[in-house]
Amino acid sequence: LTYDDIQLVPKFSNVSSRTNVDLSCKISKNYELAVPLVASCMDTVCGYDMLVSMNKMGGVGCLHRFMPIEEQARTISKFRKEQWGALSMAAIGVGEEGKKRAIALASVGTHILVIDVAHGHHENVINMIKWCKESLPVKVDIIAGNIATSQAAVDLQEAGVDGLRVGIGGGSLCTTRIQTGFGIPNVTCLEDILSVSEVPVMADGGIRTSGDISKALAIGADCVMLGSLLAGTQEAPGKIIEKNGSLYKRYRGSASLETKTVHGQAERNVEGESTIIPFKGGVKFILSGLIDGIKSACSYAGANSLDEYYPEYVRVTNAGLTEGKPHLL
Ligand code: XMP
Repeated sequence: LTYDDIQLVPKFSNVSSRTNVDLSCKISKNYELAVPLVASCMDTVCGYDMLVSMNKMGGVGCLHRFMPIEEQARTISKFRKEQWGALSMAAIGVGEEGKKRAIALASVGTHILVIDVAHGHHENVINMIKWCKESLPVKVDIIAGNIATSQAAVDLQEAGVDGLRVGIGGGSLCTTRIQTGFGIPNVTCLEDILSVSEVPVMADGGIRTSGDISKALAIGADCVMLGSLLAGTQEAPGKIIEKNGSLYKRYRGSASLETKTVHGQAERNVEGESTIIPFKGGVKFILSGLIDGIKSACSYAGANSLDEYYPEYVRVTNAGLTEGKPHLL
């Protein structure tokens, strides 16, 4: 099942005002957010400006790793000096380069490192989690992924992970399922992992609306990671492009040919697309809309906070899905 296969069931509510609903949540074992929103570590989604705006709105950005180690560490360092006390989060890879990146980021005080690989249920990821936990000079929370099965969650937890990044092949620009046939639809994937998870779970990929976010949280995810919803905003890295009188920005998959070419990587194992998307203006407007939508969902679920948010769902047919969208116009 995925998000379009289900709808949430309204429950008795005593929520007096949607504005007072508490959206605080866990992102990892030791850290919390004021709202359950995380900007994806993609090079057309989260650079310095996005880190700042996500923090101001109560979420967090995960700084992408498509840049030299020193530049990434410098960016986090700068972010921590302006935004004093803010939660900082950045992506790393695996192997020797990943270790160097982890040391540089830990030494500038990064709170959370995300081991950012396409197939997170991998020996290299497990070794990297163990190495980070045993060898980093300061304590840092480690989130790892992406994973899609309960066995992966069990194995990563056994290695000492502090949070799980969940979802394979469901992202708006992903071609993994087409190229390889692998991946699990998001709702089924989350349910499987949540049946065994002992650390916070971040639902990643395929989230198009605040309704999808509300469904992911209803299944039990602690927070969500967003790519396409935040790409195309003023704060997303990249220039504004003018075409036929309209404004756009580029959005590209981390495993797309464009990303590999731009960053001088081998042009093999392409598992993502790239495109231009309409320019959306400041990200604050987008985030406010999403936050309002989640608060409204809490009201339908009779929840004054995400701790009380446990709506059930029903499966819907294609006719049910059509009914749930504006269908007069
Ligand atoms: P949305 O749907 O929010 O998805 O745009 C963002 C997530 O998609 C993943 N991602 C990729 N997956 N090939 C993939 O199979 C890619 O090139 C790619 N780039 C990003 C990633 O998990 C991200 O957070």
